[in-house]
Amino acid sequence: MKGLILSGGHGTRLRPLTHTGPKQLIPIANKPVLYYAIEDLKEAGVTEIGLILGTNMPEKVQEAVGDGSRFGVNITYIMQGEPKGLAHAVAVAQEFVGDESFIMYLGDNILKSGIMEFVEGFEDSDYQARILLQPVENPRQFGVAELDNNGNVINLVEKPEHPKSDLALVGIYLFKSSIFEAITQIKPSWRGELEITDAIQQLLNSNLKVDSHIVRGWWKDTGKPEDVLDANHLILDMLESQINGEVEDGAKISGRVFIGKGSRIKKNTVIRGPVSIGENCEIDAYIGPYTSIGDNSVIKGGEIESSIVVGDAVIKCNERIIDSLIGNHSHIISMENSLPKGYRFIIGENSLVNI
Ligand code: DAU
Repeated sequence: MKGLILSGGHGTRLRPLTHTGPKQLIPIANKPVLYYAIEDLKEAGVTEIGLILGTNMPEKVQEAVGDGSRFGVNITYIMQGEPKGLAHAVAVAQEFVGDESFIMYLGDNILKSGIMEFVEGFEDSDYQARILLQPVENPRQFGVAELDNNGNVINLVEKPEHPKSDLALVGIYLFKSSIFEAITQIKPSWRGELEITDAIQQLLNSNLKVDSHIVRGWWKDTGKPEDVLDANHLILDMLESQINGEVEDGAKISGRVFIGKGSRIKKNTVIRGPVSIGENCEIDAYIGPYTSIGDNSVIKGGEIESSIVVGDAVIKCNERIIDSLIGNHSHIISMENSLPKGYRFIIGENSLVNI
């Protein structure tokens, strides 16, 4: 079985962070979201992986993932160009996939339980596709499946106005090569994209069988800032403590905390886990639960809680920063004598914020 990870798209809902790189490289607990997909595939025994690239700085994905050997997989890059839809991305990968079964994984999706159970038994079955579902509160934002009483899929609609169920399509799918023929039979949707949801519906229309599984544990599509922060919470909830840097006497560390090599935690620091701090950081501040601080960041004074600092940041302020996503190379500096207040930031790379 081959793997196909989609790393194209514009990432408009994550601007300004995606002005300077693809959304699939946004770190969750200090690791690009895309790496979780590669690791899930590897764990399920899928090592031949096609990685679909879009137009938003694809070279950054190539630089981050390389040939895949670091993950124990073999990566083939496939250029999609403009994001003309998930089914379009699959069609572009036809030569790579050939006649094999394959698993498609949207590069911005993240799943607690991995995909081993999902993959099991598909290749030898007579199902032409298997979809993964999860009940959600807001089905209008997803592809939605309708099942019969036996759990067979009878109908699929992409972002329906009047959903027939609360079962959202998770962005992980199993296909046989019959999907390529189905894709040739669909037309672009109202949003101008060739929808994979429509291609699976096309399989059903041709009386081919589609199987479904319900996700165990949590699933997140990290398409929006709040989803990225939620995913960070969920992954940090599974963090294991490890201190590789230097902690000065007097610093107070509680809960599960990861500290990377070369990082220095100064004596007045308080860290309440779960918190992940990357390499070569200098921390002299209060770092509250569910915070990830990327490599080479300097945090001095103030408080940060429930936030992601992507990396190479300088934050020197007396303020309280919460629920924030702070891009690479950002500087947040407060003026002298300013009174502490709470702030929420979604800021891209190379930003400078004077408070
Ligand atoms: O996350 C689950 C949802 O993903 C499903 O419930 C929907 O049925 C499915 O259509 C998809 O919806 P989104 O609107 O969230 O898809 P999005 O445009 O965000 O694209 C998903 C990923 O695929 C993202 O990592 C970007 C990449 N992509 C997207 C398009 C449209 C590509 O690589 N090429 C593309 O042409």
